[in-house]
Amino acid sequence: MPRPSPRLIALLATAALVLPSAAFAADKDPPPRVANGLAQTPPMGWNSWNKFACNIDEATVRRVADAMASNGMKDAGYQYVVIDDCWHGARDANGFITYDAKRFPGGIKALADYVHSKGLKFGIYSDAGRQTCGGRPGSQGHEYQDAKTYAAWGVDYLKYDWCSTGTRNAEEAYTLMADALRETGRDIVFSMCEWGTAKPWLWASAIGNLWRTTGDITDKWDGKHDYSLGVLRIVDLNEPLHPFAGPGHWNDPDMLEVGNGGLTTTEYRSHFSLWALMAAPLIAGNDVANMDKDTRDILLNREVIAVNQDRLGVQGRRVRDDGDLEVWSKPLADGSRAVILFNRGEAAKPITVDWTELGYPATLKAQVRDLWAGKDLVAMKGRFVATVQPHGVVMVRIAP
Ligand code: GLA
Repeated sequence: MPRPSPRLIALLATAALVLPSAAFAADKDPPPRVANGLAQTPPMGWNSWNKFACNIDEATVRRVADAMASNGMKDAGYQYVVIDDCWHGARDANGFITYDAKRFPGGIKALADYVHSKGLKFGIYSDAGRQTCGGRPGSQGHEYQDAKTYAAWGVDYLKYDWCSTGTRNAEEAYTLMADALRETGRDIVFSMCEWGTAKPWLWASAIGNLWRTTGDITDKWDGKHDYSLGVLRIVDLNEPLHPFAGPGHWNDPDMLEVGNGGLTTTEYRSHFSLWALMAAPLIAGNDVANMDKDTRDILLNREVIAVNQDRLGVQGRRVRDDGDLEVWSKPLADGSRAVILFNRGEAAKPITVDWTELGYPATLKAQVRDLWAGKDLVAMKGRFVATVQPHGVVMVRIAP
């Protein structure tokens, strides 16, 4: 191949210097989008939808905030109290959103103040379309007005849904609301609820902090039920997306069903363990003011929560799939691994994890701690094996 002449090289070098700056010279270009710096670990809190749906009111939200501040949840890291759909009234004559004054007689601002007085943060819900999924006014055409209203009320978290959006482009619609929120100058976590339809994991990390990856969860172990999905379905849809999650931007496999009554305690423990290991937002969806001991023990397991909140922010994944028997692993900031042995089958079975599946040498002697039993096991070399109950997990932390 003939060598390019020095003149040609000089010409190309000049073009390389000139062309990009020429492209950016026009000061009409929008500023580059930046993430808001929030949610460096997966958001934790409570949301009204899974338990209360549209049957939500001020008294319930106050009761929940009181409970969270006193039952150990706040201390364990649950921070956001989020009202989902159906708090809205009509728009006023100037197009500003109002609240349902029957259900929220004191108003949203007073409710947010109350939640703040408990040392918690306050979240709310809207929709990128003309109407929310519950048929209330959506934010389309009112994005800046709504963001301004939320900021004035003291909102710290917005869940933004995708009903009645017609032919709207999702990236454009979510960017518009992200810009409106940023314009308020208030720190507002942006939760994008687009159900994974337009593959938000490919474009949403510069726009908001979490994006739903699936349709709605339902309080069932498996299967598809009308528009909603059981826990296992959601797990399998969310798992392959692990490369897209990281500090400030998380895959959201939907809110927790722990404590809502449709699963066994063993299954709820598996649900919570998998959400923790997948670095999913831990948003309780039950009546946290009325929890039995099993529910409390699951939601308040500090060692499992620590796996979720680990500052490295890696979404764990399945490292072995032997049909009903699976091994999952999440690398943690201190070099240890959180590991789940998961039995989807109907009979108790032993499951083994080899160190090499975790990226450790087989010769390594490692400390193993059982996170549900809350106890250290003897140090082991090469592998760990445990019998796992049907639909259950054994969750351990393995430290070199
Ligand atoms: C959609 C969302 C749910 C919930 C409802 C409210 O279905 O995915 O999480 O917010 O709307 O109507």
